Amino acid sequence: MPADRPASSVTTAPARVVRTELPGPKARELMATGTFDMQSFYRAAVVDDDASRGCSLVDVDGNVFLDMFASFALGALGYNHPALVAVARSDAFVRAAINPTSTPFLTTSTWFDFMRAMEERYAPRGMARMFCVDAGGEGVEAALKAAFIVHGEKRRLAAGASADPLAMDDAAKARVMENAGTDAVLVSFAGAFHGRGLGPMSATHSKLMHKADLPAFPWPTAIFPANRFPLDRFADENATAEADALVALERLLDQHAGRVAGIMVEPIQSEGGDRHASAAFFRGVQRLAKSAGAALILDEVQTGVAISGTMWCHEQFDLPVPPDLVTFGKKMQLGGFFATSDYDIRRFGRMYQTRNGDRARAMLAHATLQTIDAEDLLKNVRETGRFFLAGLEAIAERHPTLITEPRGRGFLIAFDLPTPAARDDFLARAMRRGVFASYTGTKSVRIRPHLITGVPEVEEALSVFEAVAAEMHG
Ligand SMILES: Cc1ncc(COP(=O)(O)O)c(C=O)c1O
Repeated sequence: MPADRPASSVTTAPARVVRTELPGPKARELMATGTFDMQSFYRAAVVDDDASRGCSLVDVDGNVFLDMFASFALGALGYNHPALVAVARSDAFVRAAINPTSTPFLTTSTWFDFMRAMEERYAPRGMARMFCVDAGGEGVEAALKAAFIVHGEKRRLAAGASADPLAMDDAAKARVMENAGTDAVLVSFAGAFHGRGLGPMSATHSKLMHKADLPAFPWPTAIFPANRFPLDRFADENATAEADALVALERLLDQHAGRVAGIMVEPIQSEGGDRHASAAFFRGVQRLAKSAGAALILDEVQTGVAISGTMWCHEQFDLPVPPDLVTFGKKMQLGGFFATSDYDIRRFGRMYQTRNGDRARAMLAHATLQTIDAEDLLKNVRETGRFFLAGLEAIAERHPTLITEPRGRGFLIAFDLPTPAARDDFLARAMRRGVFASYTGTKSVRIRPHLITGVPEVEEALSVFEAVAAEMHG
């Protein structure tokens, strides 16, 4: 049983109760008036964020759910955490929110506080630079650009030319302006999800509906090992799958020799169905990236900021040297990437956005990271995450034809149902019993608790999952 940890706002959260049909009457009324919003038909709930506290999501009808979803892992500290409320009420925050700056040109002292904290404490080991945009997918887009720019400069240098694109001959400049300036590629993995821009989408292979009708770069796709869970029970099979995937990756890199700007991979394929690979697999990918002269880009948009039990999930991979680029988003409140000094692009006009870092969101990010330290949330995620997974494994043993493949690292937790319909039914029943979880892949339940979630909340979720499993079996 995980040890006690410092008190947090979770203790003051209202008890879970579902009073109405779902969605409730007030939510239905609001949703019916919301069709101007192109996204309105996705909506699962209308939140009362005044009443919501800690892990308790309260909706406008007064229903209280245990939030095991945290808005696809955006939420870190639960609802209305006092540390974030205090920052948001400060004069400095109000000023940052109402006086936008083009941060690369003009900024204020809070931005330097944030950068210093990132450099000294929170950035992954070995990272020398940070580039901020707004969302995760934009961070991926920017990281891809950094990889391609450095690759292009290296290729010109290797050919005895200047790295500077302005020194290219007129024919080469004309090819750039006509979109034919490079044959460089990025390698990504089958099942990956990297965001919605056309660059990240070209590296995304999780669902047809994400990609259909969109133009995409003709980049190669590597195999991601189809590991089985629990990992220790399937260790031999998984080792073979990973070795085969690495052999196939090496072949792919050989086919595109000299043209691979980067290999991008998620530490856990999240949208693609919470597919895990071992630390050894990631070390193998890094070794192959190095020998191909390609950047290793780790997409930590979903796995970053403590949810894996370490600040960055790849810290658990024992990589002999740091990755080249690490993207972030979601819980960071900002999107962007970290880079080693090799990927420091300073030439004016190459990497730039008007805002390049929302100062108000940076203040919230800073407070979130400080609270993770102050409340010892890394330890909480590791210990409570293990407790959660053990509970799910026990449920899977009791209901082996319904719940399979329980898997997790920290609070990145998932399990499978036999079909997509069974998964959706499971989620709807759990929600009616007050537990709000989500979907991923084709038939998986995705659990992404807020970092403050403790053992009592996990016990509550497990007892609801057990009851739903029994009900569906019955
Ligand atoms: C690994 C990964 N990369 C990128 C993204 C895109 O982030 P956003 O939707 O914030 O742009 C996501 C979103 O789920 C993600 O999981």
